[in-house]
Amino acid sequence: MDEPAFRTIIEPFRIHSVEPIRMTTAAERADRIAGAAYNLFQLHADDVLIDLLTDSGTGAMSRDQWAAIQRGDESYAGSPSYFVFRDAVRDLFDFEHVIPVHQGRAAERILFSVLGGPGRVVPNNTHFDTTRANVEATGAEAVDLVIAEGRDPASHHPFKGNMDLDALDALLTERGADVPCVFVTVTNNSGGGQPVSLANLRGVRALCDTHGKPLFLDACRFAENAWFIREREAGQGERDVVDIVRDMAALADGMTMSAKKDPMGNIGGWLALDDPDLAQECRNMLILTEGFPTYGGLAGRDLEALAQGLKEVVQHDYLRYRITATAYLGEALQKAGIPVLSPIGGHAVYIDARALLPHLDPLHYPGQAVAVALYELGGVRSCEIGTVMFGRRPDGAEVPAPMDLVRLAIPRRTYTQSHMDYVIEVCQRLAERAHRLPGYRIVDEPNALRHFTARFEPIH
Ligand code: F0G
Repeated sequence: MDEPAFRTIIEPFRIHSVEPIRMTTAAERADRIAGAAYNLFQLHADDVLIDLLTDSGTGAMSRDQWAAIQRGDESYAGSPSYFVFRDAVRDLFDFEHVIPVHQGRAAERILFSVLGGPGRVVPNNTHFDTTRANVEATGAEAVDLVIAEGRDPASHHPFKGNMDLDALDALLTERGADVPCVFVTVTNNSGGGQPVSLANLRGVRALCDTHGKPLFLDACRFAENAWFIREREAGQGERDVVDIVRDMAALADGMTMSAKKDPMGNIGGWLALDDPDLAQECRNMLILTEGFPTYGGLAGRDLEALAQGLKEVVQHDYLRYRITATAYLGEALQKAGIPVLSPIGGHAVYIDARALLPHLDPLHYPGQAVAVALYELGGVRSCEIGTVMFGRRPDGAEVPAPMDLVRLAIPRRTYTQSHMDYVIEVCQRLAERAHRLPGYRIVDEPNALRHFTARFEPIH
């Protein structure tokens, strides 16, 4: 019998263990958010109904991951769990040296403390904020070279995460001696969870070969990126995602990884690379701050859970569900007339708050206004990615960020379609009263990374 085509793509799992959601009233939420000085990072998570702050470390582990936890071997040196982990990483990313760390930014810190330094410049399609911060902390410069379509929330390029190859070539030609490595982030989180094509990665590889530079992947969402390649890139539609991932890896000389994303971990990461001398220097740094090279900053049980997560994330049924579920939310918002960044990315939907609240000046933080209202209306926690996050310059001046977005990031395997239907309804309710939402002012802020702790008040 032919496979019947059903419209509904179901969650490819049953629920085995449940976490209660504490229901709250609108009055309670108004009280809690005022008590948090209108900063969503300052809320207690049990005052949140649907938590879309991040997809990082917030996913549900599978039965088989929990079983793997029981196999964790906590030997200080040479734990069998390390070798299980190393082999699972190498099965997809065939790098000689696999160095576990406690999360992605630790890999960044270690690598850039070796490769960075004053006068150096690191190109990337778009640096994630911790990546940029770790490059800059060494005195080096972080340069974003995503294609022009990747900077336009309304453009429809299928691979909006692609690197601008001409711009990369120009940088490597003009400042080649200052460039220690080239980075590509898959998917491009700061640019909206947008994928990078294999063709573009090959183009970056060719430029790296011409100029003699190593290529690193920031590979947090590698499986989602590979699924988009399978769906959108000519000639890839029949391939196994595992083979696409291996092709991506084969084009690079190394990778940094937050295992809190696609590897389905609640904590973890790694740095992997081929160059033995660089690996040795990185291991020396690792021992200073993370731990012995066979556990990094992790317990043996974490290494086992990640090894199993890597096997699960490349399953087609999972990825089809994952990407469809994110698109389900994004397309419903589009249908409701809510401006969202398109095409819909892999792990999150980004509301264009500046377009939704045209009555607000960007310096009155339209993204914050939307994020606070989503919480007050329906207990949904999202994340402002705009002028609050990026508006303060190192010289103290405040300028509008290029875009004022609100990210609804979807934890992996955690919420069901009815949770998303609820989120859609809350967003619709918000859109109806968008013209009445107040802007915000900051009454107190720290010197750096102000979005985490700044205190706000509404401008009435
Ligand atoms: N690179 C990318 C592309 C990321 O998205 C993140 C984290 C990191 C590196 C750093 O990894 O958190 O394990 O140290 N992104 C999270 C987010 C925090 O919410 O997008 P980490």
